[in-house]
Amino acid sequence: MVDFEVRPCRQPVPAARRKELLAAPGFGRTFTDHMVTLRWSTERGWHDGRVEPYGPLVLDPATSVFHYAQECFEGMKAYRQAGGSIALFRPEENAARFNRSAERMAMPPLPEETFVRALELLVSQDSEWVPDAVGTSLYLRPFMIATQPALGFTLPSDSYLFCVIASPATAAFGAGAVPRPLTVWLSEDYTRAVPGGTGAAKTGGNYAGAFKATQQAVANGCDQVVWLDAAEHTWVEEMGGMNLFFVQRSDDGSPRIVTPPLTGTLLPGVTRDSLLTLAPRLGIAAEERRISVGRWREQCAAGELTEVFACGTAAVITPVGQVKSASGDWQIGDGEPGPVTLRLREELLGIQHGHCPDPYSWVH
Ligand code: COI
Repeated sequence: MVDFEVRPCRQPVPAARRKELLAAPGFGRTFTDHMVTLRWSTERGWHDGRVEPYGPLVLDPATSVFHYAQECFEGMKAYRQAGGSIALFRPEENAARFNRSAERMAMPPLPEETFVRALELLVSQDSEWVPDAVGTSLYLRPFMIATQPALGFTLPSDSYLFCVIASPATAAFGAGAVPRPLTVWLSEDYTRAVPGGTGAAKTGGNYAGAFKATQQAVANGCDQVVWLDAAEHTWVEEMGGMNLFFVQRSDDGSPRIVTPPLTGTLLPGVTRDSLLTLAPRLGIAAEERRISVGRWREQCAAGELTEVFACGTAAVITPVGQVKSASGDWQIGDGEPGPVTLRLREELLGIQHGHCPDPYSWVH
């Protein structure tokens, strides 16, 4: 396994200031004292692993990532446990997805144990940055960028930088026990991903291409975009940064959660996968099935679809209360967070923070 040299920061953020930052961290605005860096070149493979003081990267303006966006990233969290220790949640899943993204972007694979080791080292170096209030955590952002200073675009870069930074966080849409429901905008003008494209990879271009639609959503009084399939703009895909679940009620009133299948155009979320696994143990059936916008609207009107929620590492589980689109608006249930959404959220956070049993050995 690649070795990491630890170079401790000589001027860490003073403890009193760190405590202030941890009291209301927000999302992705403050960063810890250290970061991990690791380099790759065609000649040497992975080398020069370090835990070093957090700081700017110096890169040649011709560096290929600036021009051709050859990069990929992950999003994960370290959770303070009931007894004070710190845990990661399913880090091997993120390691595997990172390598799938890298493969799609023609970048070198990083051994999974090196990926996990880098996270462990950063979290233990900056352990005092892991907040302990319910709904808070240390958000970890591993990423890899193409570093060859060259504008030739026919072949991928011959060198890469893997880096991990960490940021104390509340859930992306608020830390409350009952998160505020989102209003979502159906994007019928823009498309996030196409078959054969990069939609299943966690790569920056997918997010850059989404900002325009998000601006449109905000201009229409919404929080987030719901992306539809590229060919027909009929089938629900995801929210770009979050997967979507629908709660349907059978004739006998029993709940079922339904999420669109992984067709290659949406991101295979670790939270999505965890919910598909844990819901049945709570007596909630779980299914991967595609759902059209028309059915979504009809089923809400008929009272058959009672809740919708978004899920992701940053978003945790966030209810969706209203839908808006160029062709009409509608409300989901009574527009408030529903019982299935809240039950799943409680269970997931309970496992992540060590308050609930972890029958799946997800906690690391
Ligand atoms: C995450 O949930 O970790 C994400 O990467 C989504 C996002 C903040 C872009």
